[in-house]
Amino acid sequence: MKKIRNMANVDGVITPVGEARIPVMDRGFLYGDSVYEVFRTYGGIPLFFDEHWERFENSARLIHLRLHPGKREMMEEIRRTFRASGAGEAGEDVYVRYCVTRGEGPVDLYPAPELPTRYVIVVKELAHWRDDFYSEGVRLAISRTRRNPINALNPNIKGGNYLNNVLGVIEARELGADDCVMLNDAGLVTESSNSNVFFVIDGELVTPSENAGHLRGLTRVALQEACSAHDLPIVTRDIPLEEAARATESFITSATREVMPVRSLTLRHGSAVEFPEGGGNLTRQAMAHYKDFVERYLREHADQRLN
Ligand code: PDD
Repeated sequence: MKKIRNMANVDGVITPVGEARIPVMDRGFLYGDSVYEVFRTYGGIPLFFDEHWERFENSARLIHLRLHPGKREMMEEIRRTFRASGAGEAGEDVYVRYCVTRGEGPVDLYPAPELPTRYVIVVKELAHWRDDFYSEGVRLAISRTRRNPINALNPNIKGGNYLNNVLGVIEARELGADDCVMLNDAGLVTESSNSNVFFVIDGELVTPSENAGHLRGLTRVALQEACSAHDLPIVTRDIPLEEAARATESFITSATREVMPVRSLTLRHGSAVEFPEGGGNLTRQAMAHYKDFVERYLREHADQRLN
């Protein structure tokens, strides 16, 4: 079987990822001064391309970045990079990351408006999550590090500085878990390091409201729509840690994980809440509804196929 090649595209120059170069004076490297998106393909079709672009524009707006290239050109460059990866012929789906940095400039925090931005696209093989993350569930732990407050570094900026989330996941690993759940300053649940989180509390499927401070996940939005079409409402509300601690099911969502069951949640004093292996009843329903939703989306967006 043909294997895909992991490829990068830096301002139109396509190379294997290991050979891609950006100058050390790029502000994305110096300051994390960049915005990005990640999606995956299914049968060569990007999932939620339009919605990702909208979120990308919102991130750019939030950091006062003038976006270049535009949507159509970025899609075309993603298509060229996809073709160079050989994913189409190999019949493999890919992970796509596109990023715009504020470009190269002097060492000066203030970004001169005339700096030409730089774009970077990465097309690579999909993340291979451990089988037991689905058959049993992923293990989460509450991190001591709190999620950035909205009025400090808005979590809706999907930007190149993920140190807040990196610290969360390091702590989770130190606690013997796979990933973290981060609280906000008020002790309310926000999200995991790079996925949104859901719980079943008192028989109700709940997820943190946006003012808790988390990224507006597109998998989350799609799942809300999918579940509501099947009379399975997802309540969006504040979730204090004490309530999460008496949840009976939990799962996380992201473009690369889809709907992934949670096996356990380690609390800060060391005790852990256990959830059903492979996901409880509502988790399994959510997984099935999301799968159907994606299948319908792909039927309706076949014209966006990259190969
Ligand atoms: N991460 N929260 C954070 C902080 C994220 O970085 C992500 C996505 C999500 C879920 O968003 P979505 O459902 O749109 O993927 C929530 C991607 C997958 C990443 O950075 O690799």
